Order: sequence, then C-alpha cells, then structure tokens
Amino acid sequence: TLTTTAALVDAAYAEGRGVAAFNAINLETVEAIAAGAESANRPVIVQISENAVRYHGGLAPLAHAAIAAATQATMPISLHLDHATDERLVGVAVDLGFSSVMYDASQLPYEENLTRTAAVVRRCHDRGAHVEAELGEVGGKDGVHAPGVRTDPEEAAAFVASTGVDALAVAVGSSHKMTTRDASLDEALIAALRRAVDVPLVLHGSSGVSDDGLRAAIAAGMTKINVATQLNKAFTTAVRDTLEADPTLVDQRRYLGAGRDAMAAETARLLTVISG
Ligand code: G3H
Ligand code: ZN
Repeated sequence: TLTTTAALVDAAYAEGRGVAAFNAINLETVEAIAAGAESANRPVIVQISENAVRYHGGLAPLAHAAIAAATQATMPISLHLDHATDERLVGVAVDLGFSSVMYDASQLPYEENLTRTAAVVRRCHDRGAHVEAELGEVGGKDGVHAPGVRTDPEEAAAFVASTGVDALAVAVGSSHKMTTRDASLDEALIAALRRAVDVPLVLHGSSGVSDDGLRAAIAAGMTKINVATQLNKAFTTAVRDTLEADPTLVDQRRYLGAGRDAMAAETARLLTVISG
C-alpha cells in the first residue's frame, strides 16, 4: 500500500519505535526493499537520493517503479526524496507523488541553511508534503569520514521552530558510506536533542552502526533510521560471488537476481532490528 512518510514517521515517533528508510537506486533495489518489507511484515520508507537521480538523468522512471511497487505491496510503503540540494528537484518529486523530501542545505552556513529550508518548507506544506532538513553536517557523503561534527540541541530547537521542518537529521557520531559497523553514537546527545526538539529525529549514515547501536539510538530518541551502504554491500557481495562462481555467465538476471535476493534478506533482517 502506498502510504505517506508522515504517517509512518509520526506513528513510530508517538510509540518510541524506529522506522527504516532504505535507499533504492534501481529497479532491483526497489524490488528488494519491497520484498524485505513483505517478508518481515514491517512498513518501510523507500528513499531515492539526488545522487541516484543524477545517475539516471531524471527521477520519473525510478519514481514510477517505486510507486507501482508500493501500491501493489501488502505492507505500507512510502516514498521519500533523499538529500536534495536542488530546490527544483523537490518540486519534481512532489509532482510525481512523493509525500516527503529531505532538503539538505547542511553544508551552508547556519543562517543560509535556515532561510532556504524555511522557504522549501513553506512551498512543500502548501502542497501537503513533509520536509526533513539537516543541521550539523553528517559527513562521509564524499567518502571522507568526519564523525566529529555534532548538532547543538539549543541550535536545533531554534532551527526547528523557525523553519517549521517536520523531521530533523542530526549529527551524533555517524558518518555516511561506512562499510564497517563500528561507529559509536553519542546517546546522551541523542537524548538531549530528543528533549530539545519537538519533531522526529533522523539518523543518517546508519550503515556504520551495529544492530545494538541502532537499538540504543532508537531507545535514546532516534526515529527515522536511514540505511543505504549496508544494503548495497549485501547486493554487491552476492553479485560478485555469483560472477566469480561462473565466468561464462552472461544473463544479467542471474547475478542481479542474486543481488536482489541478498538485499531483500538484509532488508528484512534490519527491519526487525529497527522496527522492533
Ligand atoms: O541518506 C541516506 C543515509 O544516510 C545512508 O547512509 O549509506 O551510510 O547507510 P549509509
Ligand atoms: Zn544521509
């Protein structure tokens, strides 16, 4: 069932649970996330990033595939635009039926992040879409890990109040694109942010966090848990193993299917960790 991100995030927030947001980058990964949600019997947020849009040269084809997959699934699935820095892309996503977007101006100075985010929030709210923003940059998007940055709770409270964002991504020790799961999160800071801010908190770079670390982060106050790399790892490892096992293989469905199955299994496993 196609649902809204607000419905999934707000329900998780109210009940102190986590809700998973997994990145899809092509048809097979859309299918893997939907299959994993079905087998784990948990709802999920499918997110497509601006980088994935750049890779495909547009959002529409993958967006239509994701909407179709969500519509035909038994589990509630919502669609979210991830890490958009291009304000026009935010409009395109809402046009295509995305119920939520992340507008990411976290690399800009505080005042500019605030002004730009507030404008995007006004436009999105007029159209019924929810907005996630980021304060205190979660590093690693460029492959350089900078887990040292931290979001200040007082600044976060002021940012949420003056922008009107629906969810806030915060820097608490994770970093994007980690292939080892040994990041240590500042749980006291998560709890302080949870007390200071009255919207759901979002953890980016969750691939670098262990299962127990994710459970602890949710218990401390995190709601939306974003995972991309850990699922890519499962997909690519299976593709590599399949190709290595048979150098004569040419049918793409053989190795993409193996990747999709492995990612569906890891999706289901992570969903039971994140959504309890
Ligand atoms: O926005 C997406 C996430 O923050 C994914 O990060 O690839 O480190 O899991 P990750
Ligand atoms: Zn992220």
